[in-house]
Amino acid sequence: MVLAPHPNPDAPVLSHFSLAGKTAFVTGGCRGIGLEIARGLSEAGAKVAVTYSSTAPEAADQIAQNISLANEGRLVKAYKCDVRSPADVEAVIQTATQELGNGRLDIVVANAGIADGTPAIDYAADKFRDMFDVNVNGAFWTAQAAARVFERQMKEDGKPFRGSIIFTASVSATLVNIPQKQAPYNASKAALVHLGKSLAVEWVDFARVNCISPGFIETEMLDTHPREWRAQWTEMIPGRRFCFASELKGAYVFLASDASSYMTGSDIIIDGGYCLP
Ligand SMILES: NC(=O)c1ccc[n+]([C@@H]2O[C@H](COP(=O)([O-])OP(=O)(O)OC[C@H]3O[C@@H](n4cnc5c(N)ncnc54)[C@H](OP(=O)(O)O)[C@@H]3O)[C@@H](O)[C@H]2O)c1
Repeated sequence: MVLAPHPNPDAPVLSHFSLAGKTAFVTGGCRGIGLEIARGLSEAGAKVAVTYSSTAPEAADQIAQNISLANEGRLVKAYKCDVRSPADVEAVIQTATQELGNGRLDIVVANAGIADGTPAIDYAADKFRDMFDVNVNGAFWTAQAAARVFERQMKEDGKPFRGSIIFTASVSATLVNIPQKQAPYNASKAALVHLGKSLAVEWVDFARVNCISPGFIETEMLDTHPREWRAQWTEMIPGRRFCFASELKGAYVFLASDASSYMTGSDIIIDGGYCLP
């Protein structure tokens, strides 16, 4: 088997980014970065399943409906899912694949994550386990459930199939942020990037696996830390500002689409230059 090629590489370039007819699944897709990923995928033509955990079900349904209404009524549906549970993730991916894609799935974004600024010396065992349970294990269960669908599709089609799995990692996989103390978070994101590279090799017959590593993005996650640190962070970013979550959606569409057909095992850092000095 080979990495399934682009179906029509000589077509005009904007067509490479189209997700028309594709079915996508985004964990943590009802707020923050995940919400903008869902918007971007829908705007590019995909039917999108978004998951939520603590968001109220009515709010999640409304969010899905709003994205759909803004995009010609294209199907967007919200599903409750705790990514810490492999059974939950498997069941929700199966249901969404049936309900949105008539049994087919093309794009899966493992985006759900948590952050915490407790100093390592005081870190409780159950909190440390939970950090990895959401950020690493949850992403693995999501990717594994997707890979099972992708592999089945490849076998049923009897020809190369190439799904796209995208992990939301972080610059914290590459550097150690200051002044916040977040060793478990940093380690979880570093694990995620190497997990992505490893799966990219193992699943090359039916999936591409890539990471996006954002820097400082304006979401509720930044509020895990004291507001006074914002000025210090801004000084450390060559771009001298934080990023709006919507500024990331183009990169997700790129990795989800045929525009990145030969790209697998990569980690795209989007950080206003923060990792450079
Ligand atoms: N903001 C940044 O500066 C930044 C930088 C680098 C990387 N990231 C990464 O980007 C991703 C999204 O973060 P964000 O900034 O958008 O933060 P956020 O606004 O806090 O969103 C976190 C998302 O994760 C979901 N989630 C949390 N625990 C979950 C669980 N057990 N099961 C299922 N879903 C769960 C939440 O769903 P509910 O709301 O329904 O609970 C929410 O949608 C995370 O992986 C984060 O580590 C963020």
